[in-house]
Amino acid sequence: MSAPPLNVKAHVDFIAALDKKKNDYEYWLTEQAVLNGIYWGLTALFLLGAPDTLVREDVIQFVVDCWDSKTGGFAGNIGHDAHLLYTLSAIQILATYDALDRVDTDRVVEYVCSLQLPGGAFQGDRFGEVDSRFSFCALACLTLLGKQDSCDVPAAVDFVVRCKNFDGGFGSVPGAESHAGQVFCCVGALALTNSIDKHIDRDHLGWWLAERQLPNGGLNGRPEKLADARPPLMLPLPACPSARLAAPFPHADTRAHVCTFVLRMRRPWLPQVCYSWWCLSALTILDRLHWISAEPLSNFILNAQALEDDQYSRESANKLSGQALDDAQDHGGIADRPGDRPDVFHTLFGVAGLSLLKYPGLEPVDPLFCMPLKVTQRLGLAKEKY
Ligand code: FPP
Repeated sequence: MSAPPLNVKAHVDFIAALDKKKNDYEYWLTEQAVLNGIYWGLTALFLLGAPDTLVREDVIQFVVDCWDSKTGGFAGNIGHDAHLLYTLSAIQILATYDALDRVDTDRVVEYVCSLQLPGGAFQGDRFGEVDSRFSFCALACLTLLGKQDSCDVPAAVDFVVRCKNFDGGFGSVPGAESHAGQVFCCVGALALTNSIDKHIDRDHLGWWLAERQLPNGGLNGRPEKLADARPPLMLPLPACPSARLAAPFPHADTRAHVCTFVLRMRRPWLPQVCYSWWCLSALTILDRLHWISAEPLSNFILNAQALEDDQYSRESANKLSGQALDDAQDHGGIADRPGDRPDVFHTLFGVAGLSLLKYPGLEPVDPLFCMPLKVTQRLGLAKEKY
């Protein structure tokens, strides 16, 4: 299948315009996670070669304002509760802008370490959800701050290893099914602690990851589903494969419940642009990137761009959002799959996936931190082989 070239300008404009879309339905669904959105957008802009698009000082000040002085962690928005997910995004943004001196990093380290449990796992926040995602977030955050040794690293590794399954993949907790997103987190956590070769059979896991590629070139998040096995849009909740999302959401908040429900509908068995990142980054770390057919995957990502003349139209977007979109920017961005509506999350992972595939003109990305390689090189954290 052929594909249009990457439209760098459209994607830069799309990200630049996001801040003006506060009337959008999605903005309010994700209002508690704005810091994640800024990390996704900023990283994409750096990879697209447009690092000066956002106003640096404004972004840094917003991050600083999201710091929760009571806990030492960062919230996803000003005045919200701190969480490891947002703390990692905050540290990534500050590191990218070379502005880590703008926060009390000792307090941040203290916060991250306070979330480690006796068995080595990390909980995401004070409400106690445990997930191998949080092990990655904690270790990445501490490593970016040069303080990995402040936590119990052997115990952290032990928990991650207990999330490994017979198929070579990793789940969210011991015994949970393998999922490409968790594989990224667990491979990342083991790479950050230099323990890949002790605990991972590169060929076994590389095979599981390579099998995620489907005939249309895209990658899915878990096995045993066909590319065209599109289930009804509204799944009964117990059938949801993301067991993690079926747990009661710790923040008893209506918006969060709506968000959880929307995420459940994302259907990880179908190919999605974000899995280009979760799988390709892990394959790169394992030195098995060549096990993927690069061209069909690039084409899958490029066909998910929302371009001016494609089927993604202002009309369909308005139907979904119930709002008129900003007149200035009604295209640009990358969707989860061709024909869907673009968002900043898939824009980052599409661009970052293409960067790993060495798409011409893109800045190189660090597969471990999902940050510009230049930044991790400046911090002395980039592995030589990348
Ligand atoms: C699937 O998400 C993805 C994951 C489980 C990995 C998430 C990784 C992090 C939060 C670590 C930080 C990431 C980076 C890039 C620095 P999902 O719940 O949407 O999966 P679904 O497709 O199954 O719904």
